[in-house]
Amino acid sequence: MRAAVITKPGDPDVFAVQDIEDPTYGPEEVLVAVQATALNRADLLQRRGSYPGPPGTRDDLPGLEMAGIVEAVGTHVIGWKPGDRVMALLAGGGYASKIAVHERMLMPVPASLDFEQAASIPEVFLTAYDALFRQCELRAGESVLIHAAGSGVGTAGIQMAAAASCRVFGTAGSADKLERAAELGLDVGINYREQDFAEVVAERTARRGVDVLLDVIGAPYWAQNLASLAVQGRMVIVGTMGGAKVEGMNIGPLMQKRLRVHGTVLRARPLEQKAQLTQEFAARMLPLFDQQVLVPVVDRVFALDEVAEAHRYMESNANFGKIVLRVEG
Ligand SMILES: NC(=O)c1ccc[n+]([C@@H]2O[C@H](COP(=O)([O-])OP(=O)(O)OC[C@H]3O[C@@H](n4cnc5c(N)ncnc54)[C@H](OP(=O)(O)O)[C@@H]3O)[C@@H](O)[C@H]2O)c1
Repeated sequence: MRAAVITKPGDPDVFAVQDIEDPTYGPEEVLVAVQATALNRADLLQRRGSYPGPPGTRDDLPGLEMAGIVEAVGTHVIGWKPGDRVMALLAGGGYASKIAVHERMLMPVPASLDFEQAASIPEVFLTAYDALFRQCELRAGESVLIHAAGSGVGTAGIQMAAAASCRVFGTAGSADKLERAAELGLDVGINYREQDFAEVVAERTARRGVDVLLDVIGAPYWAQNLASLAVQGRMVIVGTMGGAKVEGMNIGPLMQKRLRVHGTVLRARPLEQKAQLTQEFAARMLPLFDQQVLVPVVDRVFALDEVAEAHRYMESNANFGKIVLRVEG
């Protein structure tokens, strides 16, 4: 099979598209001919050699999601057959033309979507769904603040929170990203380069704060995040793009406001937890794609051979939504 392989840790040019051995598949696994995969921030770290994958994955072969066509099924597989259009979250290996996936990790591609759109769903929608609804128990009528509103995770979170009838606040670094996020359901957009988001949240909530906060920035936002939460608010830390070490941390507000703070990663979780999340998301959220309540936000599509350019593009922070790689069997 063809694969975009990291030849050594480094800058985007370390990728080489090579022919490597096809994966084997076990009795409960499905062999998929990958049509498209999508980039995630973690891929940049993996390329630099600072984010080794969980056991069973190759450090030189990134890719946390894919969409494709079932080519063959293991002897115990009952839910899928060759020719089915499928998509899945992966522990790694998506930058390749074939992948073996446990059958319970697969979701059907909604009929109205093509493979490039489908490949941009699993990682960010499952992450944001899990963070908002399972960890923070976001409910209809509540308010939520989502950082990096133009990121893959942000664009997914905004849409699902809006679909759940929540009031959605979001931050981004440009007016253009905030305008586009408003089209996805963002109610209050805050340009973090021009405004203090905690002040805007206080102003727009009559000093009450938001019920739920999805953070991907980390350390530099810690104090403002706690200030932005309402009494009994819940925060989930999904990323630390701004840094992870908080100097002089004041944990007082955690007690005073009876806050809950969660940290989460998907990749390292046991298969069973990821399969349960996948099944719940598929039942609750997948129908909303065919109804166009939710849309995959594809920013740009690159060919697999252009993987270095795609990584440079993500590193420029220019994308709104997902960057997709077309793989084509
Ligand atoms: N825990 C998990 O399981 C999990 C799963 C998926 C993703 N994640 C994490 O979620 C985060 C977002 O991932 P993604 O793939 O959705 O990202 P993405 O699509 O690449 O978007 C990232 C955006 O965040 C903003 N940004 C970057 N660095 C920033 C900083 N220091 N301060 C403020 N804004 C910054 C930039 O937009 P602006 O123009 O607005 O600055 C950038 O375009 C990453 O940290 C990723 O590792 C975690």
